[in-house]
Amino acid sequence: MTLLRTKRLTKHFGGVHALDGVDLSFEAGAVTALVGPNGSGKSTLINVLTGFVPMDGGHVLIGDSVVPDGVRSSDVSAYGITRTFQSVRLIGQMSVLDNILLVLTERTVWGALFERHGAFHLDSAQKTLTEVGLWEKRHELAENLSFGQRKLLEIARAISMNASVYLFDEPFAGLFPEMRTVVSRILRRLRDQGAAVVLVEHDMELIRDLADHCYVLDSGKVIASGKPADVLREPHVVEAYLGK
Ligand SMILES: Nc1ncnc2c1ncn2[C@@H]1O[C@H](COP(=O)(O)OP(=O)(O)OP(=O)(O)O)[C@@H](O)[C@H]1O
Ligand SMILES: [Mg+2]
Repeated sequence: MTLLRTKRLTKHFGGVHALDGVDLSFEAGAVTALVGPNGSGKSTLINVLTGFVPMDGGHVLIGDSVVPDGVRSSDVSAYGITRTFQSVRLIGQMSVLDNILLVLTERTVWGALFERHGAFHLDSAQKTLTEVGLWEKRHELAENLSFGQRKLLEIARAISMNASVYLFDEPFAGLFPEMRTVVSRILRRLRDQGAAVVLVEHDMELIRDLADHCYVLDSGKVIASGKPADVLREPHVVEAYLGK
């Protein structure tokens, strides 16, 4: 089942065609990798799909419904979409735990009744922080965490949302091997629970290991699509990566 798709999606920044008529489908219960050289439009795609930048043309479909004018950032969680950022965005002056609670309560209509729902949210935060190995650090300020721990907290924030589409922008970048194992396990769990997992990643071995499907972007265009093992050895894909 396709949860999210784009049709001829375009985004220009001045003369730069960051997305130039991109057709993509993200399926339930699958990890879809987005690969491509620096500047090929991967983060822009995630930014458009989460309303951080407006699209210039084309369509976004959630299920079979066209989202008029593209996804707005205020509607992202209602559509069941969540994301991480390529550069971590946490509230440094807040504790690890509060960074999660903020996300959990922000999307609750009864946010004002936080005290009453405190136990429920705390349980949920504990589950997520335990999964990324940060529960013991829950009272630390986010700004005092190591780079890798901050990335894991950013991932924890995204997965605490219980979404159906997860957009991960280079979640493995800069992580030590044991942290990479944690992230791989999370991606597989989300996939096995039926989510559409989208993974932007430069490490081909990780993609072969984790992805069910792979799109290759180059200069805002999809230049290849298919099973990672097949796609990543196509000569024009290898050239797009190495030829720059
Ligand atoms: N907010 C912006 N304003 C102007 N240009 C932008 C903006 N965001 C992206 N671009 C440009 O759009 C193109 C695509 O950038 P994007 O960040 O999507 O690439 P990417 O595939 O994520 O690259 P990387 O692998 O380095 O993260 C680049 O030429 C980039 O400079
Ligand atoms: Mg990027």
